[in-house]
Amino acid sequence: MNEMPVHDVLVIGSGAAGLTVALQLAPKASVALLSKGNLTDSSTLYAQGGIAAVLDATDSLESHVADTLVAGADLCDPGVVRFVVENAKDAISRLVGYGVPFTKDDASPDEYHLTREGGHSHRRIIHAADATGRAVETTLEEQARNTGNIQVFEHFLVVDLVREKAADGSLGRAIGAYALDRRTGHISLFRAKAVVIASGGAGRVYLYSTNPDGCTGDGIAMAWRAGCRVANMEFMQFHPTCLYHPDAKNFLISEAVRGEGGRLLLPNGERFMPRFDERGELAPRDIVARAIDHEMKRLGIDCVYLDISHQPAAFIEEHFPTIFSTCLKFGIDMRKQPIPVVPATHYTCGGVMTDRSGRTDVPGLYAVGEVAFTGLHGANRMASNSLLECLVYGAAAADDILGRLSDLPEPPAAPAWDETLVANSDEEVVVSHNWDELRRFMWDYVGIVRTTKRLERAQHRIEMLLSEIDEYYGSFRVTGDLLELRNLAMVAKLIIRSALSRKESRGLHYSLDFPYADPIGLPQNTVLVPKRYRPLTPV
Ligand code: FAD
Ligand code: SIN
Repeated sequence: MNEMPVHDVLVIGSGAAGLTVALQLAPKASVALLSKGNLTDSSTLYAQGGIAAVLDATDSLESHVADTLVAGADLCDPGVVRFVVENAKDAISRLVGYGVPFTKDDASPDEYHLTREGGHSHRRIIHAADATGRAVETTLEEQARNTGNIQVFEHFLVVDLVREKAADGSLGRAIGAYALDRRTGHISLFRAKAVVIASGGAGRVYLYSTNPDGCTGDGIAMAWRAGCRVANMEFMQFHPTCLYHPDAKNFLISEAVRGEGGRLLLPNGERFMPRFDERGELAPRDIVARAIDHEMKRLGIDCVYLDISHQPAAFIEEHFPTIFSTCLKFGIDMRKQPIPVVPATHYTCGGVMTDRSGRTDVPGLYAVGEVAFTGLHGANRMASNSLLECLVYGAAAADDILGRLSDLPEPPAAPAWDETLVANSDEEVVVSHNWDELRRFMWDYVGIVRTTKRLERAQHRIEMLLSEIDEYYGSFRVTGDLLELRNLAMVAKLIIRSALSRKESRGLHYSLDFPYADPIGLPQNTVLVPKRYRPLTPV
């Protein structure tokens, strides 16, 4: 095992959340920034639509708050929503300061162009054409690489967190993590005074997803194993419009296409969304995805169509250059014809429970970004509120850490990684088979429309898979695929448990056995408590 130099803060993940934390810390703290792939491999890189913020004089903070609460189906924490919305403008200013090239408005070139997306009652999405995430990620990457206090470690996949162990065996603060160097296969120990998990979501737990391969819920699984409560995992968001083409993998067609007038059509050209919701194509995502699912099942069709061909060709090329060129590569000219689309898993609304500063249940451990459950999204995240959450909570967590840094002790020594009882795997096929099986039964049994019977089937299967994976994990040297499978299976279990415990339909969780929202009592979050959980005492 390699022992890495000790840093003030260990940041696990280098998407919008991790990069924000690192850059905000760097003037006053040394940071180890870990990424399990290249620094930019993340959901952030693929974000298209943009970032929600009240930037127009006709819009208001009240309206952004109200829209978020409506989309969240009465389960958002109103105080958290207000906190995020009120800090949006500063977050955008920071990005502009770093040099993110947001698209300007043709009509008034001193202003930024704002687009619309589902659930938003105003134009409030600032964007860089249809590749906002790429603009944000690469700009922040450049800043991080050029900041002396940030040491970047690419291709290091964190296996588990390390907590301080007292003489009586009880577990204390987070002091670091073990990580697999994917290029050498060796395990390294990173130690720090504080640890931030910014490892993104778990969309790859399903067969079809808009998420890149690395979204395997590692942070949620490792925080759970370390003793953090996890909440609202039943609310996995399905994006309504992923490109449907045999050769296209996970390509999203941004909600901004509907924001700029795109209509959803059946194969016979009928526009169907007005039958489901008076907001039509701009209803919140859960409603649109369910409507598409309903129509596909009713008619036995493989996809529906998204048509924006009524807009001028030049407008389409200017506003959606990435989507336009990608569709064209697959023989679809969106200037002239509708785009075939299907829903796919997109976003993990639940996650590791945190407070307003990103602090988790484990002292010294923070969670920021898609990995976290802050209370912002409720039962359904509103479009473009996610990057915003990464930016606002990234800054809040960094502030909290800096405020405590001088009081935090140096991390003590930690046990060496023990490989004495394991051998090299002789049956990699077990890993690949279980990956496929897991993602398929999650799609079939824990998808957009659920029933108790299907959820129980999924529960039965996940228990069997988990015991097989645990046995494998205990016998063989770890590999990246095995670690990701272990985390995916853990997250799948948490999703199924949460879905089974919600005896109503709300937001993204829709059950045929409980088709209505519970009319009695206040809506509740689904909070799962791990064995190692102890209520937080002040650090
Ligand atoms: P990510 O950006 O996913 O970064 C995760 C990081 O953690 C990566 O660096 C990864 O390598 C690292 N990591 C993970 N596990 C480990 C491990 N075990 N060890 C070490 N490192 C690890 N949201 C919006 O607000 N607006 C949009 O327009 C928008 N469009 C989207 C389009 C697509 C196609 C997708 C997939 C998502 C979109 N979202 C959008 C959602 C948004 O992009 C994500 O929620 C957000 O980028 C998450 O940022 P993050 O920093 O939390 O995680
Ligand atoms: C999109 O561009 O449709 C994605 C926006 C989001 O997920 O917030």
